Amino acid sequence: PHILILGAPGAGKGTQSSRLAEEYDIDHITTGDALRNNKDMETEYGTPRSFMESGELVPDPVVNEIVEAALEQADGFVLDGYPRNESQVEYLSDATDLDVVLYLDVPEEELVRRLAGRRVCDDCGATYHVEFDQPEEEGVCDECGGELVQREDDTEETVRERIRVYEENTEPVIEHYRGTDAFEAVDGDQGPDDVWSDIVDAVERHV
Ligand code: AP5
Ligand code: ZN
Repeated sequence: PHILILGAPGAGKGTQSSRLAEEYDIDHITTGDALRNNKDMETEYGTPRSFMESGELVPDPVVNEIVEAALEQADGFVLDGYPRNESQVEYLSDATDLDVVLYLDVPEEELVRRLAGRRVCDDCGATYHVEFDQPEEEGVCDECGGELVQREDDTEETVRERIRVYEENTEPVIEHYRGTDAFEAVDGDQGPDDVWSDIVDAVERHV
């Protein structure tokens, strides 16, 4: 299937996308991870890092190119973190069709709690939470034994800016898809397993 997952910073897109990729044996295309892996790449606009560390969007041409290359190689996919503004919506609609558009709805106080407590593996990128999703051994990744660290953009000030950028640029994207047949709103303010079961029900309605 061709799945798009939308939601605010911290809504759980990455967490649920990893499960979708495994369950349906599809590619997890995430612009956030792709950019983090190429943070210091020189582009004509500057490095991705120079935008990400303050919570701003990386310029469209850089991100569109990443998505185009990933879509070319993918058969099925779950696309996470893109599109984030109306120009990216247009770019995507020229590039591929979508079977289901999932929107994870989570209130703002909960987003801040999730991002403040998030820890990620420095080696493999697996995501944990100090309260809601603890590794077996504190500070150590279950998957690969790597060290768990806080993401650079998960500081309180940058989180607030990311939420502001989301409200300004990405909420109109949600409204764009809300009117389409593929759209499925999911209550993201539940435990990860309950969110997952609602997601599977939603996807199954479209594939
Ligand atoms: P990106 O990496 O996409 O960050 P984001 O959208 O802010 O989303 P997050 O990764 O923070 O959250 P998530 O929804 O994946 O939540 P997660 O599953 O980790 O983008 C980063 C930056 O890159 C942007 O600011 C921008 O600069 C740039 N960028 C990326 N894409 C771009 C684009 N298209 N255009 C331009 N620039 C772009 O969960 C969060 C935490 O909560 C975790 O700790 C998790 O364990 C926990 N959790 C998850 N689900 C639950 C649950 N149900 N209950 C309790 N806790 C939960
Ligand atoms: Zn790891």
